[in-house]
Amino acid sequence: MPIVFHQSSQTFHLFNQEISYIIKILPSHDLGQLYFGQRVHDKDNFDYLLELAHRPMSVCYFDGDLTYSREHIKQEYPVAFTGDFKQPAIDILQQNGSRILEFEYHHYEIIQGKEKLKDLPATYTSNTHDATTLKIHLHDQLLQLDLVLSYTLFEKLPVIARSCTITNRNHNSIQLNRLMSLSLDLPDSQYSLLELTGAWARERHITERPLCQGLQAIASLRGHSSHHFNPFLALKRENTDENQGEVLGVSFVYSGNYIMSVDVDTYHTARIQAGIHPETFSYTLQCGESFQSPEALIVYSQQGLNGMSQSFHHLFCQHLIRGPYQHQPRPILINNWEGTYFDFNEEKLLNMAEKARELGIELFVLDDGWFGKRNDDTSSLGDWYVNKEKLPHGLSSLSQKVHQLGLKFGLWFESEMISKNSRLYHDHPEWVLKTPHRHISHGRNQYVLDFSNPEVVQYIENMMSDIIAESQLDYIKWDMNRSISEAYSHYQKEQGRLYHEYILGVYRLYEHLIQKYPHILFESCASGGGRFDPGMLYYASQTWTSDDSDAVERLKIQYGTSVVYPLATMGTHVSAVPNHQLKRNTSLQFRSDVAYFGTFGYELDILKLNKKEQQIIKEQIQFMKQYRQLLQSGKFYRLKSPFQSNETAWMVVDDQQTTAIVGYYRVLQEVNMGYRRIPLYGLDPDRLYTILDQEYYGDELMQIGLIVSDESCGENHSDLGDFQSAIYVIKEKK
Ligand code: GLA
Repeated sequence: MPIVFHQSSQTFHLFNQEISYIIKILPSHDLGQLYFGQRVHDKDNFDYLLELAHRPMSVCYFDGDLTYSREHIKQEYPVAFTGDFKQPAIDILQQNGSRILEFEYHHYEIIQGKEKLKDLPATYTSNTHDATTLKIHLHDQLLQLDLVLSYTLFEKLPVIARSCTITNRNHNSIQLNRLMSLSLDLPDSQYSLLELTGAWARERHITERPLCQGLQAIASLRGHSSHHFNPFLALKRENTDENQGEVLGVSFVYSGNYIMSVDVDTYHTARIQAGIHPETFSYTLQCGESFQSPEALIVYSQQGLNGMSQSFHHLFCQHLIRGPYQHQPRPILINNWEGTYFDFNEEKLLNMAEKARELGIELFVLDDGWFGKRNDDTSSLGDWYVNKEKLPHGLSSLSQKVHQLGLKFGLWFESEMISKNSRLYHDHPEWVLKTPHRHISHGRNQYVLDFSNPEVVQYIENMMSDIIAESQLDYIKWDMNRSISEAYSHYQKEQGRLYHEYILGVYRLYEHLIQKYPHILFESCASGGGRFDPGMLYYASQTWTSDDSDAVERLKIQYGTSVVYPLATMGTHVSAVPNHQLKRNTSLQFRSDVAYFGTFGYELDILKLNKKEQQIIKEQIQFMKQYRQLLQSGKFYRLKSPFQSNETAWMVVDDQQTTAIVGYYRVLQEVNMGYRRIPLYGLDPDRLYTILDQEYYGDELMQIGLIVSDESCGENHSDLGDFQSAIYVIKEKK
């Protein structure tokens, strides 16, 4: 049993082969955090970790005792204004104006497996033996509030999933203004803070800063998790690198406004928190009402960042992603967006589909512009019926013809949005999020529908269902192309609920469609990677990684994204040159060598390809079909960072260590450089492997490295030029 309660010392110890998490019921009846990290032996008592020194100038809890101060005792779920003084986990405004809370331990439960989170995405277990859950019930006697802290320990992973629920049992209502999903006190702050930051078309770049005293945070107030700060942070030790050293990663399973912070006090202890952003959150709970927090995931690794990422990848692939493609290779697709933009008709699309089939592509995706009167981005969002001028025979006819070619058929929607120039806006202007008598800003000429209103969601669901049924969709790209501003709901009585209820509306629509059409592959998108988060992955098993399809830029974006997200979730397309975002020219080979490490597809006008290019693409598709199982579900190692040098390298290895693929990229040509070797990881040191016709032992490839020198080493007249890449297939010699 990996969760033990030691009655004599009132201590919970959650442990598996890799980690330990220790909580104690304190003399003040609340919970103290004693330890989180690499697994330690279980024993009856860890009380020495309370470290009670004399604290004359601090606020102390017990009369006549100068040792027991909440400022110094590490708290498991801190409340505000009772002597702790760091960021609280919970804040409730009471009817008399007080915000003081006293949650005392009440009882606990241990459950085999993991319960679902009501209305929210969360990790799950398909087999109850995969995880054990501890639920600690706390109670505020004066307010008659129940607080349940939930901890799921995964059997074979260094992961704890946390969430909490609060229930009001009193006849007086309360106003819940803050409810963190996770609060974790660490005994020191000798870490640097690693984040995935960026902007549109520059998502999830790795940035690092030393932790320093004070509050440091990442957050989104945009209504979606955002391009700017991914809902993830890691604390890493000074000597930690990709392959060794201690790191602790936190990922938040939520797609709306959030905050993740580290609060370092003057004694150099660090408090990590993750939760819904309190700035746009306020819920009145009447008697009997509950609020469920989203889930936060903590991963611990002693094997550096790669170790942490591999745990996240495993967790997401086995316990978060659902649907028909969870364990299936993703279909190789062609998306018409960069190939045609809004300018297409049935004939053009069918010619593209025909050519796609010839090249070996499996899924044809029709992007924006198929509905209403949509010929540019100024109209028709909300009018989800076919544009007969472009598609005179309707979508069902197009879809049928695509299916007859032997391809699957997919469609783009942007369900949460509305254009002023639309029938829907004409009929229901009150469905737009808009503050009365105030200016309303647009984003890409569009406005946001009030998805906190069930009637709106139902209406959109009906329209989407009609289209799905009529056109027999196999795939949906679900876009969201603007942040929310001037938010106000005509439906909500309490505006503090709006942002959270909005994202619950999005989740509900996804869930209904998944239940009705379980075969559909969903790909989420928000102007590229503006909502690439674990919440979305619960519904949509892949995400369009970025609107920047330039292969050089993609090195950084995909490298950064892989810190948390598995390759099977990253939409990666080969697009045209000059690249549409940067005007850069790279070879077809370089573009596909980058795109192989993802779901893989094409986004260009394939009718413009010459014979040679068509042949190259055919071969790329054959390669991808042969190796995609490995590429999308193998163990992924980052080898060389584009953030640190001119080169990038990464690799995947299968579970049996029989096959591996290395991707190596050298961005700019250099002159008279040194020789280059890249040590590999994850192979069996004792097995003999082949690369082309050369043989190497695993230990050679890992200790000595793979030679990746090219003509830029030692010569200055190489005609290779910029943007070179190589794919090395490594096979165990039979
Ligand atoms: C967003 C998406 C693109 C494309 C366009 C269509 O920008 O990220 O991939 O679908 O919308 O308008």
